[in-house]
Amino acid sequence: TLTNKIAPSILSADFGKFAEEVKKLEASGADMVHIDVMDGYFVDNLTFGAGVVKAMRPHSKLFFDCHMMVENPENFVDDFAEAGADGMTIHVEATKHIHGALQAIKAAGMKASVVINPGTPVEAIKPVLGMVDMVLVMTVNPGFGGQKFLPECLEKVEDLANIREWRGLDFEIQVDGGIDDRTITLAKEAGANVFVAGSFVYKGDVAENIQKLKAKL
Ligand code: DX5
Ligand code: ZN
Repeated sequence: TLTNKIAPSILSADFGKFAEEVKKLEASGADMVHIDVMDGYFVDNLTFGAGVVKAMRPHSKLFFDCHMMVENPENFVDDFAEAGADGMTIHVEATKHIHGALQAIKAAGMKASVVINPGTPVEAIKPVLGMVDMVLVMTVNPGFGGQKFLPECLEKVEDLANIREWRGLDFEIQVDGGIDDRTITLAKEAGANVFVAGSFVYKGDVAENIQKLKAKL
C-alpha cells in the first residue's frame, strides 16, 4: 500500500536562502522536496536548474523531486543525476519520445515519473504507465504558484487509480497546484497519495502548515 506524502514546493520559498529552506523542510516533517524547474519555453516562467539542485544537496537528505517544466527534458537527465536529484518528473507534452526519456531517467539511477497538464487526457500516458514510479496530475496550468485549484482534474486521478488496480501496477499518484487544507481532502478521496503544496506551506509558519496538511491525511 502507498503512503501519503507531503511535498512542499520551494517555488514559494525565499530564493536567496535555498540551503536554509531545505534544512527547514526536513525539520518540519516534509516527505520530499518538490523542485519546480522551468525553462521559459514550456511555461512562461524561468526558475532554476541542476546547479541549484547541486547546491542544495549537501543540506538535505530528503528525496529531491524534480518537476521538469522544460522542453526536451531528456537533454537534462545527466546533469540532474550528477547534481543529486532523486527523481525526475517529465511532461508528456514536452517530448517527442516520452518512453525513451523515461528509460534514460531510470538508466541514470533516478525514479522516473510522468506528468499531464490539465488539458491532457490520461490516454496520452497509458503506454508508459507500466514503467513509471509516479504519475503527476497537474491541478493548475503549470508555470506559477498561487493559482486556483482545478477540481475537474480529479476525474483523471480517479481514472488512474482505477487503471492501476485493473492492471496490478504500483505507481504513486501526485497532485500539484492549488493544494491547501481543503483541496487536499478532495485529491486524497480521488486517489492521490503525494501532495505538492507551495503557497499554502510558505504563507506563515512552514512547520505548522505542513502539520495542517498532514492532519488531513
Ligand atoms: C506550478 C508548480 C507547482 C507550484 C504549486 O507550475 O508546478 O509546483 O509550486 O504552487 P501552489 O501550491 O501555490 O499552487
Ligand atoms: Zn510542480
